[in-house]
Parts: sequence; structure tokens; C-alpha cells
Amino acid sequence: MEILLHNDYLAEALSREPDAIDLCITKNCKSWVASTTISSLMQKSSQEHRNKVSDLLGDLSVVTPNVGDLAEALRNECFEERLTSILARNCGFDAVVSTNPEKFSSNDVLVITPEELQKKINEPASPVTGVKLLDIPASYHQILNDVEIEMADTIRSGQFILGSKVSELEEKIAEYCQTKFAVGVSSGTDALLISLMAAGIGEGDEVITSPYTFFATAGSIVRLGATPVFVDINDVTFNMKVEHVERCITSRTRAIMPVHLYGQCADMDSIIELGKKHNLTVIEDAAQSIGSEYKNKRSGSLGDMGCFSFFPAKNLGAFGDGGIVTTSSEELYEKLKVLRVHGSEPKYYHKSIGGNFRLDALQAGVIKAKLNYLESWTEKRRQNATTYNQLFQANALTQYIQLPPEVFPRHVFNQYVIRAGNRRDELRSFLNEKKIGCEIYYPLSLHIQECFKSLGYKKGNFPEAEKAADETLALPVSHEITKSQQEYVVENIRDFFLNK
Ligand SMILES: Cc1ncc(COP(=O)(O)O)c(C=O)c1O
Repeated sequence: MEILLHNDYLAEALSREPDAIDLCITKNCKSWVASTTISSLMQKSSQEHRNKVSDLLGDLSVVTPNVGDLAEALRNECFEERLTSILARNCGFDAVVSTNPEKFSSNDVLVITPEELQKKINEPASPVTGVKLLDIPASYHQILNDVEIEMADTIRSGQFILGSKVSELEEKIAEYCQTKFAVGVSSGTDALLISLMAAGIGEGDEVITSPYTFFATAGSIVRLGATPVFVDINDVTFNMKVEHVERCITSRTRAIMPVHLYGQCADMDSIIELGKKHNLTVIEDAAQSIGSEYKNKRSGSLGDMGCFSFFPAKNLGAFGDGGIVTTSSEELYEKLKVLRVHGSEPKYYHKSIGGNFRLDALQAGVIKAKLNYLESWTEKRRQNATTYNQLFQANALTQYIQLPPEVFPRHVFNQYVIRAGNRRDELRSFLNEKKIGCEIYYPLSLHIQECFKSLGYKKGNFPEAEKAADETLALPVSHEITKSQQEYVVENIRDFFLNK
């Protein structure tokens, strides 16, 4: 439950014992206070009282009305109550807690007393009736105040593109990914493109990669006039079959681009060895794998460059597009920084042709704030994956579906992907009917995409990639989901296989 505490309740709670607001700081209830009520709470000026208010702000999230909310509230006689209702309605809170619910005339929102809240908290949870594949707003209460501080800094400074926010983020991401440098860019796609440019890839060059990935992996290679050379995938990890890579190397091969699909690293040892042996640049498509590890090293630190996406659905998502390239090579770092600003160095003097690949400061601030939560969110995703594995095993469902094993710890489960054989599409429709979000990543391998016809591949060239495209289904696994939601997913999958 997300509740907004009205100032009458807060004033009373603050005047009583310090634990009086404990009611609102329970696991089942996320409590908010409107920033506009703080000054009315500060009418007593003792240090002790100020400390209490300060503790309160540490425990609750703060929501600030915008000008529209205030204007609407001003049109009404009971300004305080009207503003609380408007905020609760516009922010989607479940209820307002007030000691005098009768003062609220509008029925925009449920208004309850602390006693009624207590009762609601103790009620058994209502049964799950659906699970979203991704519920990004569900964790906003946790991060919103940190994010607002970062965004206000940027808005006040007027530095919207690159600047100190982006530099601070770059330092933090480099440290997190165990590299010397990081260069913030406009998206994960641009991270791939600029890395290929920094490696000098162009017309006539070949880059070895996976056919079973998001389009941008191969799209960025083709955009530079180079040719993606696909290698089939391992049927367990969904990542490139490394034992097939060497046979694809020709005199035109310039780079290998492994993809750490779904959040698990590709088998990097032999890729790195081949890179060294044949003088090839290794560019990791780590868009889905921030924080994943291969033999105790973080993704993004394994090859020459690592490319990450901050697309909102990623484990570390922005409030829009963004990406970053990691590297420990000073030479590549310098090239990346210049290519990011149209190849300009110094400003307006161009020795090379780059692009506008700049990361904006608002997104950098959002990512920087969220990075502090990433480890706990990742551990929750991993725990959710373990819970699914246990539930599927306990329900004897592993004879119908194949679970995603963790071959190279640590897998960060950007997606939890099962194989459902030839009943995948049927299962997907069934789960959708039960309001369970699930998705196919990806329904058509890149080698048989219409736009890549001229590459000369045909159906049957990469049987494992094609089979995966026909059989896989991603289930909800993000840190926001609960155990009962996971049980609901598994019960429905059981129902599908046993009763349909
Ligand atoms: C494997 C992979 N590569 C590249 C990208 C591109 O990232 P973005 O959407 O940030 O451009 C994505 C994002 O979906 C991805 O999953």
C-alpha cells in the first residue's frame, strides 16, 4: 500500500512518543509526506522537535505538489485537505491517513484513520490477480527523493549536456565495472556504434557476433558499412558458441562482439584468447548485463570495450535513453570522448568524423542515484530466479519447460527466460489471459531479418538460434515482484501444462 500522511495525523504522531509513526513504516505500507506540510509541522521550535521532524523525513518519502496541483487546491475552501486529495489522486496513492477523515469532502481518494490503516495492514493480502512483466513505477517511492535531488541540481546549474553530472557517473560506473574509464553516451545502440568507430571498423570489415540478440548488435555493424558474421548460439546459455568463432575468422575480420544475453556473460576466455591471437578488438555487448561477472570479473571489463544500455527496462534504467562505454585503454578512452562530440578536438576542429553521442545530465543524475540501489536490486532478481527454479522443480514442471541455468556466476537476470518447446505461443496467450506479462526476446533471429537479406544467410543456417526464437519466453523477474506473484505465475504455468 502507498499512503499519503495528512498533516493532522503527522502533527499528532510527532507530539506523542517517537514510535507513534512506526505504524506507517512497515513492510506492507509505503508512506509519503507532502513537502508543503513540513513548515506547518515546524511550528514548535525546540531542537528535540526539529530532530523528530528530521527523523521523520529520513523514514518517509517526500512528494512535492506541482503548480497545477496547487492551483486546483486553491480553488477550494479547505486548501490543506483538497491539496492532499489532489496529490494522492495524481500520484496514484492507495489512501490518505488523517485523524479527521470527515474534513475531506471529495471522494477522489480513500481517506482513512490510523486505526483503519492498522486494520488494513493486518488484513491478509488480497489474492494476486496479475503480474506485470515490468512494473517500473512500483519502486519509484524508493528512489524518487534521491533522483529529485540530482535533477534539481542539474536544472539549477543549467548544465544539461555532459558536464559534471556525466563525469561523476562515468567515474562511478568505471569503478562498478572494474575498468579505468567510462564514457557516457546517448543510448546502448550508440555505445555499440561509437565503440566500433573507436576500433576503426568500417567498409569491408567483418565483425563476428551472435544472431540471437537485440537488433542493435548487428545493426550498428552494418551502419558502418561492415559485415556481421554470425555464429550460432549455445543451447543452454543462449550466448555465442565460442568453439565456432575461430572458423569464422578471415583476413577481413576486425572484431568480435559477444553479447551477454539476458544478463549472463558469454564464455569470454576463448574469445579474449582469439582476439589476442588474431589481433581483433573485443567489444562486449553488455547492454543487458550490468553487474554480471565471469570468473570474478565484471562484464564491461572483459574485452577492450563494454557497451551498456540505460534503457528504462534494463537493470539500471534511466528515465529515457542513455548508455555508457567502459574501457581500461587510455587510447580508446581518448578516441571515444572525441567521437562522442562529432570528432571535435578542440571544439569546432575535426580531425575525425564522430556523431552526437552525448549523454544528457538529467539522465546521468538519475542513473547515479539509482546506482546506489543496484546491488540490492540485483540480489533480489537473483533470489527471484532461485525462487522460480525451486517452484518449478517442486511442481514437477521441469519435464515441460527448461529453466535458465547459471553457468557463469554471476547472472544478473535482466530476463528470466524459460524454454516451453512447441507450446510457447499457446503458453504465452494463456498467461496473457491470466494477466501475466511475458515476452519473447527475440522472435526472429537476425540472420533471417528482411533487412539483412543481402548478407546471404537463410533459414536453417543457425538452428540453435532459430529454435530459441521459437521456444523462449521471458517471465516477470524484476526486483519489484513478490513471492506471491511468482507463485501465481508458476501456478498458472502448472495449470497450463497439466490441465490444457
Ligand atoms: C543486447 C542489446 N544490445 C543493444 C541494445 C541497445 O540499447 P538501447 O536500447 O539503449 O539503444 C539493447 C537494448 O535493448 C540490447 O538488449
